[in-house]
Amino acid sequence: MKKVFFFLLAMQSVFADPPVLQGRYQVKDYSHLYEMKGFGENLLNIHLKLYEGYVKNANDLLAQIRSVDPKSYEYGALKRRVGWEFDGMRLHELYFDNLGGNGKIDPKSPLYLALVAQFGSFDLWKKDFVATGTIRGIGWSVLYLDPIDGRLVNVWINEHDVGHLVRGTPILIMDVFEHAYMPQFGLDKLAYIEVFFNNLDWETIASRYTSSTVHSVDFGKGN
Ligand SMILES: [Fe+2]
Repeated sequence: MKKVFFFLLAMQSVFADPPVLQGRYQVKDYSHLYEMKGFGENLLNIHLKLYEGYVKNANDLLAQIRSVDPKSYEYGALKRRVGWEFDGMRLHELYFDNLGGNGKIDPKSPLYLALVAQFGSFDLWKKDFVATGTIRGIGWSVLYLDPIDGRLVNVWINEHDVGHLVRGTPILIMDVFEHAYMPQFGLDKLAYIEVFFNNLDWETIASRYTSSTVHSVDFGKGN
């Protein structure tokens, strides 16, 4: 009898509908960032409000997709928006999470040592990261770790969803959409970037690196 019961239970799980994501993403609290020096209250108000919008839209979009016919044109159109809304939410969380510090990186940290080893110096890495963030357009400058071989790469993410590195681990994220700086800094993107760097929480940023499993590149093999 027991065997029959477990057989029926197993068959039920085989034929059951696949699990459906029912939970809603929650807005994270970043009120502590108002203590940062150099970022005005108005700019942070705007930026945090926009972030809240991405969380809401990611939730609404996923709910809407579940409610439409998978064979409809609408279903396909909505599916194409998932990366944009979801990445808009997550990139902002990574961005706000890497702020709120004193801007100083520990020169003995594995991340610092890796940046020096791979770019020649911390300043050379920073120069390239800033250059990435000042190209024309709206998007993100991202320091990625390629966990396959440990290489660190500065990458331009166009808008929110174009240019991500497959399996790449985002280590440092800088928002260079116009809303991130124009309300306070106008066209002076470099002034914004300076304030951004002055407020980086390198402890959080470095922990993203050390929590990865691969930390070194062998440049002796023609990398
Ligand atoms: Fe933003």
